[in-house]
Amino acid sequence: MKAILGKIPVKLGIMAAMLAAAAVAAAVAAGIMLRRDSGANVGQNLKIGVFMYRGDDTFISNLMNSLRDIVSAYEREQGANLYLSIQDAQGSQATQNTQIERSLSLGYNILCVNVVDRTSVAYVIDKAMEADVPLIFFNREPVQADLRKWDKLYYVGTDASMNGRLEGQIIVDAYRENPERLDLNNDGILQYIMIEGEFRHQDAILRTESSIQAIVDAGIMVEKLDGGTANWERSQAAALAKDYFTKYGSQIEVILCNNDDMALGVIDYVSDNQLDFTNIVGVDGTPQGLQAVYDGKMEGTVVIDYEAQAKLIFEIVLAHIKDGNARDVIGMTEERYVRAPMYVVRREGQK
Ligand code: BGC
Repeated sequence: MKAILGKIPVKLGIMAAMLAAAAVAAAVAAGIMLRRDSGANVGQNLKIGVFMYRGDDTFISNLMNSLRDIVSAYEREQGANLYLSIQDAQGSQATQNTQIERSLSLGYNILCVNVVDRTSVAYVIDKAMEADVPLIFFNREPVQADLRKWDKLYYVGTDASMNGRLEGQIIVDAYRENPERLDLNNDGILQYIMIEGEFRHQDAILRTESSIQAIVDAGIMVEKLDGGTANWERSQAAALAKDYFTKYGSQIEVILCNNDDMALGVIDYVSDNQLDFTNIVGVDGTPQGLQAVYDGKMEGTVVIDYEAQAKLIFEIVLAHIKDGNARDVIGMTEERYVRAPMYVVRREGQK
């Protein structure tokens, strides 16, 4: 959290709230210090393979930068020599399968997989089991039945349902502070647009459902004007915003986006067309997303701590290498899932 907020000047007028939901999250954060006591050479000559679904995804590239930094810091502190290879599948599961097979044949010790198609992990799991190489899935959550297949499979991600609830809560709080700022036509109902991340992605499905549920649970009536999928991408969201503003104009009161990049796409359209519209929310807390909140161009975002996710991934790598399992990593469930902390950042002073 510090690292992300540290990039923002103090007088920003941004309110960052650590969330109560983070009892576990705090424990996780506390538990992700690298193990200085684990013997100077834990991980010496360790070969770690990392496989991204798409290297041009903003969130994933931030996560990868954090992971590189963490591994370098570990090498410096421990005098260790690790080999980290990060490969980009460019959206193709077939490419990723080939990359993984090749890394297995090259004797990699552990693989971290941001799987392209979360429903097609069986092949990769079988190959890893044959080679007895543990897999840490991250960010794109395989179905639970697959994760149960072997006790050397892990998942690091976020609680997407909670991301969505918090995103909805940003709208609820803004509405409670000043209903007229959101309910533009004063009919007691929030007319909204939903821009979704990716068909079948766990995070997209859960954020879409739970963000609206949080608003409804707060007793605010909603009406969906329209919605669509922009594949997490800024330019696709800008194109959707164009369609929606052309079709619905000032009927649009709120736009919920499954991530910050898509919120930024909406903002691009709004700015290019000099519209006075800032009732936009996102999820991720990328530096660009946070900057948009600071600039007053969007209402708020839910920060998913990618730095903490990177630390968790590396903590599992080290624990596994040391103990043959990572059961003791703080926050790890019986089913070998671990979820990184999150918190809300809202702009202030809009009452
Ligand atoms: C993030 C998105 C990202 C996606 C990739 C989501 O959890 O919020 O920004 O594009 O994961 O899988």
